[in-house]
Amino acid sequence: MQTKILLSEDRIPKQWYNIIPDMPGPLAPVINPRTLKPVTPEDMLAIFPMALIEQEMSPQRWIEIPDEVREIYKLWRPSPLYRAHRLEQVLGTPARIFYKYEGVSPAGSHKPNTAIPQAYYNKLAGTKRIATETGAGQWGSSIALACQMFGLECTVYMVKVSFGQKPYRKSMMQLWGAEVLASPSDRTTAGRAILARDPDNQGSLGIAISEAVEDAASRADTCYALGSVLNHVCMHQTIIGMEAKEQLALVGDYPEVVIGCHGGGSNFAGIAFPFVADKAAGREVRILAMEPASCPTLTKGVYAFDFGDTAQMAPISKMYTLGHDFMPPGIHAGGLRYHGASPLVSQLVNAGVVEARAVAQNTCFEAAVTFSRAEGIIPAPESSHAIRGAIDEALRAREEGKAKTILFCLSGHGHVDMAAYDAYFSGKLEDFEYPEAAIRESLSHLPKVEI
Ligand SMILES: Cc1ncc(COP(=O)(O)O)c(C=O)c1O
Repeated sequence: MQTKILLSEDRIPKQWYNIIPDMPGPLAPVINPRTLKPVTPEDMLAIFPMALIEQEMSPQRWIEIPDEVREIYKLWRPSPLYRAHRLEQVLGTPARIFYKYEGVSPAGSHKPNTAIPQAYYNKLAGTKRIATETGAGQWGSSIALACQMFGLECTVYMVKVSFGQKPYRKSMMQLWGAEVLASPSDRTTAGRAILARDPDNQGSLGIAISEAVEDAASRADTCYALGSVLNHVCMHQTIIGMEAKEQLALVGDYPEVVIGCHGGGSNFAGIAFPFVADKAAGREVRILAMEPASCPTLTKGVYAFDFGDTAQMAPISKMYTLGHDFMPPGIHAGGLRYHGASPLVSQLVNAGVVEARAVAQNTCFEAAVTFSRAEGIIPAPESSHAIRGAIDEALRAREEGKAKTILFCLSGHGHVDMAAYDAYFSGKLEDFEYPEAAIRESLSHLPKVEI
């Protein structure tokens, strides 16, 4: 009975998979927020290095992973694929459940898979400093680590509610040499404007992105880095799904269903896109994105052009959105509180290639506890959404008496999120109602893009 399916270091993928040439139709253009015209590479050069801009728009299916990046990936990659024998037993399911565990990275999640190449390409381009945002702190700690590895300075705008809730994430960022500011901050025009209107504003990812983009755009030595949503970020994460496919092949298996949690879309894209390619080639596989009911972008949002941030400074993309000024309730899966979504994932949902489900946070914590008591690993609150999806699929397999194979991405560990488990065990975790009125109001502010 094999539990861990491992690959040796020389099996770290040598190329990332770029899904753009395999998408079901052309991509919608990305729009400059000032001119309301399609962005040009020159527009993006103010905040990104050229290598990443090229990756963002590349028509090449395979993109070489630089040796310097693969060398650092060796610290945690290839990540293990586990067969969840004990969870299967507890559920009494005939399903075979596999999970790809990304919590083995130094920061504890999948985020360093893209932080390392982003810091690398910035270093090559002569960038001295990175400005970025972070929600729960997973991305901030990953980019702090990556900047440390390549000798770059790093400033992180951390959503204020998490700054208070997750002090140890802040300490991790400081340990890896980053400066951390609670957002909204008084460092930027965007932050000061919000604080003037609402001094107690607890922040959101949309606001923190505005601050980081403004910081990067206002300094010649600084670039911006985003931990999710963008095409190149999703592409860097595809090593997750490629490794998983190879690991499953080692035990002669292939999934009926592939599941990931969805915030901005990057770990979901990472586990799913290599299987989307198989699906496009005619193979039968279901692909399921799990999101929080209190921030239900893919299931209740509209597929429309919207700003990536609150202050309307980030590019406008066609994506599922709840409106750029929607403030999601303060759930503990901070990394899933984003009003928008990856344009690539959005297009796949819209085309019916990918399914999406929204779940309330208590039922996710319940699934995380069942998982942890069986498998030992303590999941990040974000990852618990994928576990909920996998357990529900396994229970359906039991009802149907079907021995199907389920693969999910366990995107990170929850060691720095124990306050959330504490809230769950003391019955203080609130299941927020679907914030229909707030979403309707926010959707009335979408930009009018005519192309
Ligand atoms: C552990 C973990 N999983 C998932 C996510 C969601 O991000 P994404 O949708 O980009 O994978 C985050 C975001 O911070 C995270 O920390």
